[in-house]
Amino acid sequence: MASAPAELVAAARAAAAHAHAPYSRFAVGAALLLDGGAVVSGANLENASYGLSLCAETAALAAANSAGRLADVVAIAVAGGSIEGKSNAIVRPCGRCRQLLTEAAQLGGRDIVVHCAGLTGDALETHQLSALLPLAFGPADLA
Ligand code: THU
Repeated sequence: MASAPAELVAAARAAAAHAHAPYSRFAVGAALLLDGGAVVSGANLENASYGLSLCAETAALAAANSAGRLADVVAIAVAGGSIEGKSNAIVRPCGRCRQLLTEAAQLGGRDIVVHCAGLTGDALETHQLSALLPLAFGPADLA
């Protein structure tokens, strides 16, 4: 169980240790908090065919979906940074991941809290997904 932002960020940082990022040398971890307190995490998964790479948020969402929990995402923490450790800058989800998160949010009928952090350091930003991707298209539009 990890519900406090700091605990969810810690889970995202732990997941980043499993990043497969030999091309960008940029490791990212994501940890999803599910309704009820379970945490599902993922790390970025790069590929020698660079454009096929998957973000950490996408990997975590696929894991939640595989557990039948896609509609249960309450919050996400994202933590990333250079493997060489040159920066403490925070990482915010890319546009594609914001869209994928929106699918989970609309399925669950709720907004998702998004915590953004670096691999190290105390910097933390917290947003509502709806503010990161306003006026999003999603499953609710297909109803
Ligand atoms: N990346 C993520 O996993 N999540 C983000 O929010 C931003 C970018 C990954 C993709 C790629 O493997 C590496 O970071 C550099 O872009």
